[in-house]
Amino acid sequence: MEERVNGCMERSMSGKPLALDSREMKAFVTYISFLSQGIPVGATVQGAGMVQSKMPNRRADTVAGGKVYEAKCAVCHGADGQGLRAGKVGDAQGYTFPPLWGNDTFNNGAGMNRLIMATRFIKHNMPLGASHEAPQLSDDEAYDVAAFMLSKPRPTKANLEVDFPARWNKPVDSAFPPYLLGATPDQHRFGPYPPLVEKQKQMVEQLKAGAAAERANAAAKSAR
Ligand code: HEC
Repeated sequence: MEERVNGCMERSMSGKPLALDSREMKAFVTYISFLSQGIPVGATVQGAGMVQSKMPNRRADTVAGGKVYEAKCAVCHGADGQGLRAGKVGDAQGYTFPPLWGNDTFNNGAGMNRLIMATRFIKHNMPLGASHEAPQLSDDEAYDVAAFMLSKPRPTKANLEVDFPARWNKPVDSAFPPYLLGATPDQHRFGPYPPLVEKQKQMVEQLKAGAAAERANAAAKSAR
């Protein structure tokens, strides 16, 4: 649990890990245990995770996304993406509207830096007031505006390539190495995703077939 919280500190918050015995870490862990009171381990909780939505089978269009941004997001997050501070720089009061790019936002190792993830979050939560039941953007608009946001500069996290050393279980929209065979960094970053999902499925099948053949081989050997 502490590791998971520190994952958010180092990625979503683009900050430093908390000491495991710090007051803040104890508070986070205690609050999470409090929230899960009475819920069986492994149960599916309503509101957890991201609602599925369909990814258009094309590369995302950041120019079209910029137009959506200007029309539906800039009023709160700013034309320059820097959001609106609650107080002054350095007073730790945070933001009324968070920045979406630049130095003070999530880094490239955050879940939000993945296009499928960001598309689903935006589709079901933005502009503020949108909900799972009543989204305000089409699948295309959410996909393009998310790509526009992710095309902008943000802090970088070191050593991302060790996050998913194997290709078969690495999310197709994480835009750092290792890449799927024959896929470009750009396709991992901006789609189209359905061909990557298909490629990964074939890879898993090949790995399974290989493992089954190995088992059969070993069984035949020991029978001899
Ligand atoms: C009426 C104001 C408003 C508008 C318009 C709005 N947002 Fe937001 N947005 C917010 C607020 C407030 C939050 C913080 C929500 C929270 O912390 O629960 C937020 C959070 C976000 C986040 C999460 C940021 C992070 O660091 O995790 C993203 C991404 C985002 N908005 C994208 C968009 C996009 C894209 C649009 C346009 C389609 C949009 N927003 C329109 C107010 C707005």
